[in-house]
Amino acid sequence: MPETILVDRDGRVAVITINRPDKLNALSQQVRDEVLAALGELEHDDAVGVVVVTGAGEKAFIAGADISEFAGRSPLDQREAMRFPRLYDVMASFPKPVIAMINGFCLGGGCELAMSCDLRVASDKARFGQPEIKLGLIPGGGGTQRLPRLVGLGHAMRLTLTGDMIGAAEAKEIGLVEMVVPHDELRAKTMELAQKIASMSPLTVKVAKESLRASERLPIDQGIVYERDLFCLCFSTDDMKEGVNAFLEKRAASWTGR
Ligand code: COA
Repeated sequence: MPETILVDRDGRVAVITINRPDKLNALSQQVRDEVLAALGELEHDDAVGVVVVTGAGEKAFIAGADISEFAGRSPLDQREAMRFPRLYDVMASFPKPVIAMINGFCLGGGCELAMSCDLRVASDKARFGQPEIKLGLIPGGGGTQRLPRLVGLGHAMRLTLTGDMIGAAEAKEIGLVEMVVPHDELRAKTMELAQKIASMSPLTVKVAKESLRASERLPIDQGIVYERDLFCLCFSTDDMKEGVNAFLEKRAASWTGR
């Protein structure tokens, strides 16, 4: 049984809650291992269409990597702690959509985890930042790569080089989050979004995410060809035939995920 996370279900949505509120849900090695194990199970669970990640308590989503684990570490110890598979990359390439439900401080590795998700919904009380520079460090969970892709190089430089925190409204303005909602509506609004996505064909959602994620690594000409091939591959699925027939017959589609 995991000790640092909770996993619960709401229909076809699984919610992983990092459960160390007294440490502002800092990402210890145990947290990372337990989230990876949970994702490993959820990946093969056909009853789950979407995963939501959040933090326990009122104060923090995740306040970063657990700084207490850094003290006294050698570079090789740190390299071992950052061994593959890395949580950030597993989430980005997870075959089902992952939504960050950002309920408070979203800092350092927490911000990097949120950026590895496919969508980010933030409470209006959330605060964001990459404060590693204040520790004599740089972001190490993909932040120097994912942040500029989301917000542009200039904002990424500002946040990374100053370590300053920004509020939810500014995070939305620069493209770090997609939605900001009143704090007490965070769960309802996030679940509404998650349930909507989870009601689509899981097979088609998986292919759509794969094609969108390819845009991060492929030049546009190759990405367009890749998308064309995935689009054509959809013609082999029962769900594509069902979706098209349902439209033509003016009824709701019933997906089988095949
Ligand atoms: N790693 C380990 N412990 C952390 C932590 C982290 N990233 N962030 C917070 N905590 C712990 C604190 O040490 C404290 O523990 P304690 O009660 O045993 O002393 C507890 O969580 C509460 O944090 P506290 O600092 O007292 O809360 P605050 O409201 O005064 O400040 C923050 C909130 C987020 C501004 C502050 O906790 C902070 O700066 N955290 C570190 C953020 C960071 O640098 N992240 C990047 C890490 S690479």
